[in-house]
Amino acid sequence: VNFSSLVARVSGGGSTTWDIHFEALRRIREGKVTIMLTVGDPDQLAPVRIVEETVAALRSNHKGYSPIAGIASVRSAIAERIERRTGHSCRAENIIVVPGAQAGLYCVVQCLAESGDEVIVAEPIYATYDGVIGASGAVMINVPLLPERAYHPDIESIENAITPRTRVIWINSPHNPTGAVLDRDELMKIAEICERHDLWLLSDEVYEDLAYARPHSSVWSLPNMAERAVLVSSLSKTYAIPGYRFGWVAGPEILIKHIQSLLLCMSYGSPPFIQEGVLPALREDLPEMFELRNTYRRRATIMSGVLRSAHRCTVAEPEGGMFLFLDARDTGLDSWTFARMLLEQESVAVLPSDAFGPSASGHLRISLTAPESELLEAARRIVQFTRRLSAGGL
Ligand SMILES: Cc1ncc(COP(=O)(O)O)c(C=O)c1O
Repeated sequence: VNFSSLVARVSGGGSTTWDIHFEALRRIREGKVTIMLTVGDPDQLAPVRIVEETVAALRSNHKGYSPIAGIASVRSAIAERIERRTGHSCRAENIIVVPGAQAGLYCVVQCLAESGDEVIVAEPIYATYDGVIGASGAVMINVPLLPERAYHPDIESIENAITPRTRVIWINSPHNPTGAVLDRDELMKIAEICERHDLWLLSDEVYEDLAYARPHSSVWSLPNMAERAVLVSSLSKTYAIPGYRFGWVAGPEILIKHIQSLLLCMSYGSPPFIQEGVLPALREDLPEMFELRNTYRRRATIMSGVLRSAHRCTVAEPEGGMFLFLDARDTGLDSWTFARMLLEQESVAVLPSDAFGPSASGHLRISLTAPESELLEAARRIVQFTRRLSAGGL
C-alpha cells in the first residue's frame, strides 16, 4: 500500500524540534523534576465566566451540529470585536469560526495557494507554517528576520522575493518565536506591496493581546485592503484556553464561503457549547485577559534581565508574545546540543530553534508559561550552565 504525497508535505521540517519536549516528558514520568519551558501552553486557569457559560450551554443540551460557519451571534460578536478594535467595518459574513487559529491558517492557505504557487514568509517561522504551506502544494519562500533589525522584516527583501508565482505574503505579529511586534508603518508598507503585486496578505494575530513594546496593528485596520486582507486569530493564548480549539478567520465574504465548503468536508462546524462558552470574551475584554498580558510582560522582563548574565548568549526583552528568544550562537553549540545538555545537566527543557529556519539556528525558544519562581530558577540554571560551558568545564 502507498500513501499520498501529502504525508511528506505536511510533516514539514519541524518534527525533530519536539524531541527535547518528549524527552523531558519521559524524564518527568520517571520522577525527575524538570522545569518545562517548551510549549506555548498558558499555565493560567480558564476565566470563570467562560467555564460557567460553557457548562451552562452543556447543561442546556446544546450538543447538536452548529451552522458550519459558526453560530450567528458568535460570528456577529467576532465581527463587532474586530470593528471595535480596528475602526474598520466588519460584518458577520466576513467571519468563519474555526477549531483554533491553526485550522484557520490551514483552511486559508488551502483556499489561496496550490502546486506551482509561492507563499512568502519571514523566517524564523512558527513551526507548523512549513507543513501548512506544504499541504497546499505551494512552496514556502523565506526572507530572514535578523537580530540586527530586532527581528523585524526588511521590507525590500520581501518585495525582492516576489515572482510571478507568488500568491500570498504571510505575516505574524506579535511574532513566534522572536517576539517582534510590527509597527503600523511596516504593516502599511507590506500592504502596499500586496496591492502593487495583486497578492493576498495573510496575518496570524494569535498573540494580538500580548503586544508590549507598541500597540498591536491589525491587518484589518489597513485602508484599501478589504479585498485581500485575511486575519486569523483565536482566544487560545490570550484567554489561556488552547484546548477549546476556538478561533476565527476574517476576510472577504467570498473567501469565507470557500472556507465554509472546506469545513463542510473537514469538521462540519465547531461545537456549539464552546462557541457559546466564549461569547462573553468576544463581547467585551474580560479582566483575565489584561491580567494575563501583565503577567507575561512581567515574566519577560524579569527572566530576560537574569539571562543577560548568561555567558556568550544574548537575549532581548521581547516586544510581545509569550517567549524569549535566546541567541546562543557564540557558545559554539548548535541549539539541539545546547538544549539536550541543559536538560541533562540542569533539568530545564527549552526548545531548540534550528527547525524554525536558518536565522534561528543556534537559538533557543524559552516559553514563559510557568510561574515566576520557576522561571527565575530556570534562568539561574541556564546562567550556571553557560558559565560552566564557557569555562570549558563541560
Ligand atoms: C504563531 C502561532 N500561530 C498559531 C498558533 C495556533 O493557535 P491555536 O491554538 O489558536 O490553534 C500558535 C500556537 O502556538 C502560534 O504560536
